[in-house]
Amino acid sequence: MADLQELTQRFLELYKDSAESIHIFHAPGRVNLIGEHTDYNGGYVFPAALTFGTTLLIRKRSDKLLGLATTNFPDHKHLPIEPIVYDEADDWMNYPKGIVHELQQQGRTFETGFDLLFHGEIPNGAGLSSSASIEVVTAFALLTMGGYPVDTVKIALLAQKSENEFNGVQCGIMDQFAVANGKKDHAILLMCDTLEYDLVPFDSGSYRLVIGNTNKRRGLVDSKYNERRSQCEQAVQDLRTAFPELTLLGQISLEDFNRTKHLIEDDTVRRRAQHVVEEIDRVIRSITVLKNNDLAAFGQLMNQSHDSLRDLYEVTGEELDAMVAAARTVPGVLGSRMTGAGFGGCTVSLVHEDSIERFKAEVSRQYTAATGLEADFYVCKIGNGVEQLS
Ligand code: GLA
Repeated sequence: MADLQELTQRFLELYKDSAESIHIFHAPGRVNLIGEHTDYNGGYVFPAALTFGTTLLIRKRSDKLLGLATTNFPDHKHLPIEPIVYDEADDWMNYPKGIVHELQQQGRTFETGFDLLFHGEIPNGAGLSSSASIEVVTAFALLTMGGYPVDTVKIALLAQKSENEFNGVQCGIMDQFAVANGKKDHAILLMCDTLEYDLVPFDSGSYRLVIGNTNKRRGLVDSKYNERRSQCEQAVQDLRTAFPELTLLGQISLEDFNRTKHLIEDDTVRRRAQHVVEEIDRVIRSITVLKNNDLAAFGQLMNQSHDSLRDLYEVTGEELDAMVAAARTVPGVLGSRMTGAGFGGCTVSLVHEDSIERFKAEVSRQYTAATGLEADFYVCKIGNGVEQLS
């Protein structure tokens, strides 16, 4: 957790003193435990909020300007709160700007502007949802400050819309939803089609979730991500010969899929769809095995998920594969997989608490030997979704 006194000091240096008080909010990052590339197919995901994320200090202004600054980069600026226009040169600021814009589109107007200072603890481009964290904390803070009702499911949808439309990234709902609705020591079983969800106590006994950062930036992720999305849409179209009502891959059972998959003409498209339908089934099986406290079986499902993302969906890449392969050689590891969009970013492994030091040493060594890159590790605790700190 960030040092709030230090951040307040920084805020006052930047924005000077004022009679108005500073309010502080926090939104976490997220890790997805299983259910990858299923959200935009209307399937299940099983993410959890992290204990680290984005802290936001915010104060009302007396004029109609919006002040944007972060402790992570030196750039900061003031701009009129209306109209808000996308500008590539504004870089990370386009995330909070997108939220202000989307709120205005929804008729949420503000009598005054605000000064904002962000403090991000999520490594950039690591696939732990730093952008969703910024979006959700901004929306939550502005709605609270404006005296508007705060509904964390609606905030997730608004943040996703802003990322899709203002920032042009066609992400699904998982990241924003997890960041907005997470709960300490719980994972979220979310049905992405209906947004029905269950907070499932995640008790891993003497095992820990360990996140491994490949430190391979997720280059080209947007174009490859969008390509996977359209391949899934193609699969749905082909399957409509048998199921005219089908709109999303998540609506078809594994049995029906296996019976009719020959209708998907393109070989690659068929493999993509096979991953999605089987991955959704793995999420459902995960819930059952976790209810029975069968962590070993959950670890197996994590392994199968990664292998399918590698062989059928083809979104892993050399670095993630090397890190997962290394993790699986360490005794005390029940399962290991990539998490998030893929093409770099992070892995998540289920590791016995007595093996964590050995895990870090051994995976580091093998990973660097294979890729020339240095790995980072975070032993993960599951935290709360967005909240006001003061
Ligand atoms: C990214 C997207 C999510 C989801 C995952 C893959 O994190 O933002 O919506 O599609 O990739 O599961």
